[in-house]
Amino acid sequence: MATVTISDVWKYYGKTVAVKELNIEVRDNEFLCLLGPSGCGKSSTLRMLAGLEFISSGDIYFGDTRVNDIPPKDRDIAMVFENYALYPHKTVFENMANPLKLQKMNKVDIAERVEWAAKMLEITELLQRKPVELSGGQKQRTAIGRAIVREPKVFLFDEPIAHLDAKLRSHMRGELKHLQRRLETTTIYVTHDQLEGMTMADRIAVMHEGVLQQLGTPSEIYNHPVNEFVAGFVGEPPMNFVDCYIERQDDAVALVNDSGQMKLLLSDAQSRALAEKSADGVVRLGIRPDDLFVEAGQGHGLDFTAKIFITEPLGGDMLVEAELGDDRLTIKRKIADMGQPGEACGLAFNIEKLHVFDRETGEAFF
Ligand SMILES: Nc1ncnc2c1ncn2[C@@H]1O[C@H](COP(=O)(O)OP(=O)(O)O)[C@@H](O)[C@H]1O
Ligand SMILES: [Mg+2]
Repeated sequence: MATVTISDVWKYYGKTVAVKELNIEVRDNEFLCLLGPSGCGKSSTLRMLAGLEFISSGDIYFGDTRVNDIPPKDRDIAMVFENYALYPHKTVFENMANPLKLQKMNKVDIAERVEWAAKMLEITELLQRKPVELSGGQKQRTAIGRAIVREPKVFLFDEPIAHLDAKLRSHMRGELKHLQRRLETTTIYVTHDQLEGMTMADRIAVMHEGVLQQLGTPSEIYNHPVNEFVAGFVGEPPMNFVDCYIERQDDAVALVNDSGQMKLLLSDAQSRALAEKSADGVVRLGIRPDDLFVEAGQGHGLDFTAKIFITEPLGGDMLVEAELGDDRLTIKRKIADMGQPGEACGLAFNIEKLHVFDRETGEAFF
């Protein structure tokens, strides 16, 4: 069983606290993504898992075995970094064979393993080339090949495709996910790219300033972010935020933006959720670009009249930035023609999809 348990783990570098009281249980065969902005403690966590960095406090277990004091080479892990660190004077075959040679595997078995991995990664025809003769994507595949030949208990990836160009990155996302499902190996994958987390992971652990913010499936993270940080970090274009105050009308609750042009009547369940959490009158509303409706011109049936700031056609979808009082909102819709900047447009909210956050703490009320 290759479960991985991170229990109350802290990491200090001198006075810098890189990881604070981290608790994560990675399931057997799971693809877990550590997601967060640069400097949030992802690599420190991964390096502690690998045994490359001392654990300041807390415990890490692989299965039932505490690995804190086990050296990297005895942890049965394979790690792939952003800079793939291939041996320049060795061929692709030799690079991939290296970990098996170190294990003193016999030559016939080594050749069989390397050819198996090369076939899976579709680099069989490159086996006799040197790294200098490879493209970025081919080098990255070689590095991945070198990691998978050993069939380790755990894969650790640290931004392995971050510097590839956009098209290749998208291709490699699919390949890595497919490979992980096929190999059925517990995988911990570090990235700052929310799209990689959303598309590849079984579960995502969102980190910020060394602290785990939320651990959940991509859908849980996207649809039910626990705070404003997670809500704003996941999703592209990012969620819109609007400062509002609460207006109570008999039994109903409305949210009004600070400049007064927008008033949204909440559902009963939403009103109750705000009451139960005793929000103090000011909140921050969140709404994703997909959950807004927009229409060109005046005289539409939508709730509000806004002003077009800019339009960005994306081929299929259109991104519209519209101003409603002092707030600017991004809307994503399939619209062919939206009119010109400065012109009026209609705007409406999918009330069911509203998020409301505490303005002070960022904590989600719903
Ligand atoms: N070797 C180190 N010495 C001192 N500070 C470090 C070291 N490595 C990382 N840090 C600091 O720890 C924090 C987390 O870094 P890191 O784990 O590399 O974040 P991430 O991988 O999420 O970008 C950052 O503030 C970083 O500057
Ligand atoms: Mg890093």
